[in-house]
Amino acid sequence: MTDNNPKAPDTAPYDPSRRTLLKTLGTVTAAAAASGGASLLTGCGADKTSATGQNLAFAEIPHRLDHRHHIPDGYATDLLLRWGDPLDAFAGSFAPEKLDAGEQSRRFGYNNDFIAFLPLDPEAGPGEGDKHCLSRNSERGLLCVNHEYTQPHLMFAGYTEASSIRGTSDQHIAVEQQACGHSVVEIERAADGWQPVVGSTYNRRISLTTAMDIVGAAAGDSRLQTNEDPSGTRVFGTVGNCAGGKTPWGTVLIAEEGFGGAFQGDPDNVADEVEARNHHAFGISPDNRNWGDYDRRFDIAVEPNEPNRFGWMVEYDPYDPQSTPRKLTALGRFEHEGFTLVSKPGQPIVAYGGDDDEHQFVYRFVSSGIYRPGENPHNRNLLSEGTLYAGQFREGGAGTWLPLLFGRGPLTPENGFRNQADVLIDCRRAAKLLGATPMDRPEDVETNPVNDCTYVMLTKNKKRAPGDENAANPRARNSTGHVLEIVPPGRSGARDHVSDTFHWNTFLLGGNPNAEEPEVRGAYGQQIPGTISANGWFANPDNVAFDPKGNMWIATDGCESFGFHDGLWAMATEGELRAAPKHFFGCPQGAEICGPEFTPDGTTLFVSVQHPADVRRSTFDNPLHRWPDNDPGLPPRPSVLAIRRKDGGVVGS
Ligand code: FEO
Ligand code: CA
Ligand code: CA
Repeated sequence: MTDNNPKAPDTAPYDPSRRTLLKTLGTVTAAAAASGGASLLTGCGADKTSATGQNLAFAEIPHRLDHRHHIPDGYATDLLLRWGDPLDAFAGSFAPEKLDAGEQSRRFGYNNDFIAFLPLDPEAGPGEGDKHCLSRNSERGLLCVNHEYTQPHLMFAGYTEASSIRGTSDQHIAVEQQACGHSVVEIERAADGWQPVVGSTYNRRISLTTAMDIVGAAAGDSRLQTNEDPSGTRVFGTVGNCAGGKTPWGTVLIAEEGFGGAFQGDPDNVADEVEARNHHAFGISPDNRNWGDYDRRFDIAVEPNEPNRFGWMVEYDPYDPQSTPRKLTALGRFEHEGFTLVSKPGQPIVAYGGDDDEHQFVYRFVSSGIYRPGENPHNRNLLSEGTLYAGQFREGGAGTWLPLLFGRGPLTPENGFRNQADVLIDCRRAAKLLGATPMDRPEDVETNPVNDCTYVMLTKNKKRAPGDENAANPRARNSTGHVLEIVPPGRSGARDHVSDTFHWNTFLLGGNPNAEEPEVRGAYGQQIPGTISANGWFANPDNVAFDPKGNMWIATDGCESFGFHDGLWAMATEGELRAAPKHFFGCPQGAEICGPEFTPDGTTLFVSVQHPADVRRSTFDNPLHRWPDNDPGLPPRPSVLAIRRKDGGVVGS
C-alpha cells in the first residue's frame, strides 16, 4: 500500500536535462543502450531524500543452480506455509494420496504467488481495516496469498505433464479447484521465528467455489449472463491469481491472469463473432485442460459467456472472513498481473496495472471519488467507479494516458462497442484502437512510496520481430526483459499521478552486461564498470516490492535459461547506485520467486517459492527434488518463506 503524506501541490516543471542517459536508453536500440556513455543523473527524485543504496549492506550471494534456496550470511528463513499445511485445527497431517476437495479446502493452496501482509491491531474490529493497517504491527498479521495455478503431474501420482492436460480425473480436478485461488492465514512472530496461527478465525480459503459479486459498469451486462446466473452479477470463484495489491482501507486485490487455460472448447464454434475473437485472444482452445468435462461451465460450448466473468481484479476484506469478494469491472478485463495503488488523502485513488501478454498494455485507473482516510464505507466503493486509461509511451520520453471511454475516439458502435461494458470486457481491443503502446509483457507496475515514481516490470517478449520495436520496447526480440520508470509531473514524494501526461525512461535492461548479443545484453545503473558484481545481473523481472527506504526489490522468472536460479535482486532507485542490483535470494531449481512483501517495519521479507522442481520430466512419482521437506514421502511443495536478519535488524541494511 502506498501511504503518502499529503504535501503542498508542486507545480515545478519537469526537467528533462537531468535524465539524459536513461532517456537515451529508452530511445535507442539495445545494442547502443548497453554501450551507452556514463553520465550521472539523480533519477526520479529531484532531491536527496530517497534511498541511495548505501544502506544495502548485505553480503551478496552468488548465481547458482541447485536444489536449495539461498540467503546471505547473517540471515535466517522460516518455512512458514507449504502446499497442504492445515489452516484449521482439525485438518491433521498432509497426505497427498488421500487428498480430496473437502480436505484441500481447509489447507494452504498450490503454487503460491502474490503475498500481502496486513497488520493486526488487537484493538480494531472487522470493519476497521484502516485502523488495522495504521497499527503497522510487524509482529502479527494476516498473510494473504494467491495460488496461481495447479500442476496435477507434480501434485498427484500417476501423471506425466502431457497426460494430465486432457486426462486429469474428476477427483483431482475437484482438488485443483480448491487448491487454486487465495489463502488468508493469521501469522505471528514468536521467539524462534514466524509461524501460522492454525485455527485462527481469520483463516480462510477462497477458491473456485467461493461466491462473488460482480460490480461496476459491466456488471449485469448481457455478455456476463449465463444459465446459472441470468443476472450477470454473481459468479463462483477466481482463477489464474497472479499478483495483486492492497488498499489503505484494509482490503486486498487479487488479479485474474491466465484464466483462459481453465476453459475448454473451440472458439470458432461460438456463433457470435466478437465473442469468438475474444475467446481466442485469451487462449481458449480444445487442447486446454479438461476441466469442462467435470464442471460444465468451463466448456464454452455449454456456457459461452462464462469466460467473460473472469479476467478481472477481485477485491475482498481479509479482516472479515464472511465478506463476499467483488469482481471490479471498472479496472478492465485482460490478463491482469496486478493493480497497485497510489493513495493520497483528498485526491482520487490512482491504480496502475499490467496485462501480462506479448504486445499488451500498461493501464492506469483514476477513481471518480476522493480518498477520505477513515471513511471506510465510502472508500470501499472507490475502485468501482472511475476511468481506466492505457499508456502511450512515445519517442523522447513523453507519455500520455488514453481514456477507455465508450463514445470517445474510436470506441463507438462502428467499431463494435455497444456500451462501456463492451469497452471494459474487450479492453485489449479498445486500447489498441486508441493507440496505446504494445509492451514486452507487463508484469508488476508499482509506485515507490519514497520517490513517488512508478516502475513497470517488462518480463520479455519473444514475439517482437525486427521493425516491430518501439521506443519503450527497443529490442527486436527481448529475451531478458527490462524495467521502465514512469515519472508523473511534480516533485519527488508529491507527484501528480492524476495528470494525463508523464515522462518515462528506461531504468534498466535485464541480461548480462557483458553479453555480445544485443537482445540479451543488460544495462544497469550509471554504466560505470564495477558498479555491479558478476552476480548482480538478472533476467526477466516479474514482481517488485519497495522496502521502507524506497529500495527496489525485483523478483525474477526466467533466469534458469541463463544458467542460474531465479531470485531476488535489490537496488537503489536514486543516487550513484541507482539501478545497480545486488543479489539477495536464490530459489531451488525449477522454481520462480513471487511475492515479495515486507512487514511495515522492514524487518521481515516474505517470499513465495512457486513451482519448485518444475523442469521437464519431473513428476510427483519422480521429481527433480523434494524441496523444502526433502522427505521421500512428500513431493516438492510450493512454499512461503519469511526471511529475517538474525540480529532482528532491517532486511537489506
Ligand atoms: Fe503469473 Fe504474470 O505471471
Ligand atoms: Ca507474476
Ligand atoms: Ca510469475
